[in-house]
This record gives sequence, C-alpha cells and structure tokens, in this order.
Amino acid sequence: MSETTTSDAPNISGKSILIEGVTKRYPGQKSPAVDGITLEIPAGKIVMLVGPSGCGKTTTLKMINRLIEPTEGRIVLGDEDVTDIDGDELRRRIGYVIQAGGLFPHLTVAANISIVPKMLGWDKKRIADRVDELLELVSLDPADYRDRYPKELSGGQQQRVGVARALAADPPVLLMDEPFGAVDPITRQRLQDELLRIQEELQKTIVIVTHDFDEAVKLGDWIVVFSDGAHIVQYDTPERILAEPANEFVENFIGSGAGLKQLTLRRVGEVELADAVTARPGEVASEVLARAVAAKHNHVVVVDERERPIQWLTRRQLTRLEKITAVREAHLPVVGHRATLNDALDTMLVSSAGAALVTGKRDRFLGVIDVETVMEAITSARASAAASADTPTGTNSGEVSIIAESDLTESSAV
Ligand SMILES: Nc1ncnc2c1ncn2[C@@H]1O[C@H](COP(=O)(O)OP(=O)(O)OP(=O)(O)O)[C@@H](O)[C@H]1O
Ligand SMILES: [Mg+2]
Repeated sequence: MSETTTSDAPNISGKSILIEGVTKRYPGQKSPAVDGITLEIPAGKIVMLVGPSGCGKTTTLKMINRLIEPTEGRIVLGDEDVTDIDGDELRRRIGYVIQAGGLFPHLTVAANISIVPKMLGWDKKRIADRVDELLELVSLDPADYRDRYPKELSGGQQQRVGVARALAADPPVLLMDEPFGAVDPITRQRLQDELLRIQEELQKTIVIVTHDFDEAVKLGDWIVVFSDGAHIVQYDTPERILAEPANEFVENFIGSGAGLKQLTLRRVGEVELADAVTARPGEVASEVLARAVAAKHNHVVVVDERERPIQWLTRRQLTRLEKITAVREAHLPVVGHRATLNDALDTMLVSSAGAALVTGKRDRFLGVIDVETVMEAITSARASAAASADTPTGTNSGEVSIIAESDLTESSAV
C-alpha cells in the first residue's frame, strides 16, 4: 500500500466504460427494460445512476459485467470491446458490490475476499497479504476480522468486506448496486466517506446505483437521471443538476428543498475548523487540564499514536483522572473531511454534543466543527453552481442529448 500522504495526484487506475446503443429486452415484456442507451463513463470517476423503481438501473449495471446479456449494442472497457469476451473472465476485471455485501455466509471474511485471487491462481502468501491490506483499506483490523464469519459482523462491516472483496484483484472498474441501502444513516455516511477516501487513493471507475438523491450528490462526479426504459433525462454534474434540472421530471426527482440540498455539496473539509487541545494516553491529567485552561477550552481530544481521536474529555472528567488512558470511547461523534455539512449536522444531532471531531487522511484528527460553523456555512453558501470540465455524453438512440457541450460520441445519429 502506498505510504504517500502528499497531495500528488494519484494515477488513475480506472478504465473508461462505453455503453453503446445497448438494449435489453426481457422475454415476454412489451417494452425494453433498457432502450438503446449510449453512455460514456469517464475513467477514474464516480458515476451515479438514479431514477424511479423499475426504470432499468440494475439492468444497465449488470449489462456492464454481463450478469445480464444485452440484446443489442456493445460495451467497451478502456479501448477493448468486451461485448463478446467470456463473461466470467470479464467479471474478474470488474468488482461488483451489492446490498449488505452479498457475502457467502459459510466462508470466513478472508475466504470471501480471496475468491477472485484464488481463481486467478495467486499463491497463498500473496493472497494472505492482499486480504490484510484490503481489510486495512476498509478500516477493519485484519487480526480481529479475517477469521470471522459474515453473521459475526454488523451490516456496515459486512458492506466493508463486500467492498474489500470487490477490490481484491485490483479491478479497474467497480459496480455497486445500492451498496449502502441496508444500513442506518450514520453508518451509511461513514461508508460513503470511506468510499470517497478509498477512491481518492485508488481512482477507479465506479458506477453506483442508488435510490437516494443525496447520496448521488455526495458521491457522484456525474449523475445520470433515468426515466423508464433507462432513458437518459439528464447526465450532468451534481452542481448543475441541482442548479439547472433539465425538466420537471428531474425537478420532481430531486424533490423539494433543492436549495437545502446544496448543503450536500459542501464538505466539512471546506469550512474553517476550530482548534482543539489534544493529549495522548499516558500524559498526566493535571498537566493536560492546565493546557485546556490556558487555551480557554472546555474539552480535550485524546489521540492515539497515529493521531486518531479516541476520547473527547471535559475538564470535569480530567479532574477525576490521574493519567490519560488509552481507552477508545465507543460513540465518538467523528466525521471525515469528505463528509457533507448535512452529515456533520446528523452526527452532531445523534451525539447531542453540538459539535463533531473532524478527521482527515488515515483518520487523523484535524479539528472540531460546531453547529454554529455549519449554520454560517449554510447561510453564506449560495454555492457557485455553474461548472467547468468536459462533459461526458449519454443518449438513447433516436433522442437528442440534453447535455451541454457534448463531445465525442457521434453514434447517436437520429
Ligand atoms: N428477469 C427479468 N425478467 C423480466 N423483466 C425483468 C427482469 N428483471 C427486470 N425486469 C424488468 O425490467 C425493468 C427494469 O428493471 P431493473 O431491475 O433494471 O430496474 P431498477 O431501476 O433497478 O429498479 P429498482 O430501483 O426497483 O431496483 C422493470 O420493469 C423490471 O420489471
Ligand atoms: Mg435495481
């Protein structure tokens, strides 16, 4: 795993996906589930597929790795046409994550993650190392988790293992079908933050189906809004979809409070955080207290040897201690710097602390965000919606693309 902590742009390991003129007709159905879709998914980006139930999201996703065979059209991965290559071989190059991880219940965590590497004939040592590396990547302690069975894990942990398994053979593409649909909101937020952190490191091409428009805005570099038959109603950045929904259908889909949803665009890492007094296990409590008093702070954040927050102590608690312990508090209100201001508010509300601890790369402590800061950000932020960047294209045959500045694909000739 990379030791790099600098902001050097990592290499994009993802490959672009071109879905070209793809149609799926299920036997006995009047109209196609997916109707001549052409969609270009840029390498190294996260593209979200949203739309009403039954509009063809899952069918579209599963045609990319050919769990469902297209009736017509072709799929190109990078510069390789994969329409006719062996489906099993294709699926080894495309990670796939479904709700609740889709783990095999009779296999341990390690065995679940090892499936594809084993099929690829890796030796034992390489597989074992890879399992540990991936568990670290998804924030599960390998020693603690590798030998457990799925039923011995929480929903969020199962989902993490599902992601680890999908990444096992380092595929350029990751497909996720409502990956966070089955977990509670706070766990979902953490898993989303984690996915963004992983993506920062790995730069895969990730396609995610979701029902949750806020999730689409938070995770997506691009969002595709489908109507029935996987007709592309809009394919655009979250900013532009919120600011300029293509039509009433999209407006309705975004739902009310589009203004508030702008909040979902603002990240914790973009606002100014408050400093905190920090301490380490083993320090003399009275000395730490003196520091807090001198700084006029009521709280002290205890961080471990890797700068990760483990306790949040009041002055009162400090007076009762002799030394700072290494105990990890169970429900610390922590948000990652990629979390949205909405997430931060949720976390504060759940913990009733009126503030949350913010962590950055490798869960290192960065500072504190409080309710006032979030409120200020809300009022001051009428975000710059207009956008930049190249726009990838997507159309259905016989339709005009609704996307601005479309480039490339001329295949959708009417
Ligand atoms: N195996 C199948 N046989 C026949 N019709 C199917 C089959 N699978 C899906 N369909 C139909 O194709 C359409 C698209 O289904 P799909 O599962 O892709 O929708 P979706 O957008 O993922 O919906 P949801 O949000 O409810 O998961 C639906 O009308 C569905 O009933
Ligand atoms: Mg579906």
